[in-house]
Amino acid sequence: MILAIETSCDDTCAAVVTATGEIRSNVISSQGIHDRYGGVVPEIASRHHLELVGAAVNDALARAGVGLDEIQLVAVTQGPGLVAALLVGLSTAKAVAAARRLPLAPVDHLHGHVAASFLADPGLEPPFLALIASGGHTFLARVDDRGPGYAVLGQTLDDAAGEAFDKGARLLGLGYPGGPALERLARDGDREAFEFPTAARMRGLDFSFAGLKTALLYRVREMDSGELQRRRADLAASYQRAIVEALSIRVERALEQTGLERLAIGGGVAANGPLRERLTGLGARISVPPIQLCTDNAAMIAGAARDVVPLPFPEYLDLDVYATGERALAVAG
Ligand code: KG4
Ligand code: ZN
Repeated sequence: MILAIETSCDDTCAAVVTATGEIRSNVISSQGIHDRYGGVVPEIASRHHLELVGAAVNDALARAGVGLDEIQLVAVTQGPGLVAALLVGLSTAKAVAAARRLPLAPVDHLHGHVAASFLADPGLEPPFLALIASGGHTFLARVDDRGPGYAVLGQTLDDAAGEAFDKGARLLGLGYPGGPALERLARDGDREAFEFPTAARMRGLDFSFAGLKTALLYRVREMDSGELQRRRADLAASYQRAIVEALSIRVERALEQTGLERLAIGGGVAANGPLRERLTGLGARISVPPIQLCTDNAAMIAGAARDVVPLPFPEYLDLDVYATGERALAVAG
């Protein structure tokens, strides 16, 4: 039985997953507080993690119906993410593991997003193409086995897709996180009303979302407040369509280039309905995890831990967190 903790951003998460990948509990405590700032404030996030993490762990154990003595492995997100937030999770995991002399598996957050697909779809066998699109990262990878050594084929050169959703939502006067709010507003809009760039002419498999956000900014600036109010849903629908297209065009290209026939998607943006629909139409066999396994959660960290070599006590006591994705991407080469 694996106990996992995830605190890389603003969700305090704990989960219990069996060695065979059965999710016994998956507790996600979202810190609604960041809404008022229009984004996550790192110091506030880490202070909230500190208040919530003990309860999240207890809750995960209680919901799974297991005691700490049934836990054989503690898994935790080591990075990338907000350093002060990660430190809360890592310190908690060290304390729980060390108290019982348990091994500890340090997990890369992005490997976790990839591993969510294996939990959601136990029949999923590598090789496959993975699209991971979250608030901090957006990349395409070729997955040849279950470990963290997937090969990154393309990644964003500027903003992540989730960041594009969040920034666009902010320009349209919506709260944080912007993705779900923008998706809701877009339902009443015409996605053909405005033409936004998808960087389709950019060759290769890298993404770029900075131009899109600027294009929306100019559109919004051109309008007086009455017009903006009338056209908000159209702007949202057209903007969402551009993000969906930018992602889908590259997924299609990658499937062609690699000859892979399976596609798995993950990360918060993979919760987006129109994106799921568009990718389902590509013809590849697609694995779409349920929304609670797409957005940040600890079950995916436990899932990834099944394919990470754990450190025995006391080797993990001086383990540190890391902030950026460079380490993960470098491993993947
Ligand atoms: O994976 P995640 O929960 O956290 C990170 O690792 O970043 O992703 C969060 C991101 C946010 O930018 C949020 O706006 C976006 O995922 N997101 C969505 C949707 N749900 C969450 N974007 C578009 N449509 C959604 N339904
Ligand atoms: Zn994430």
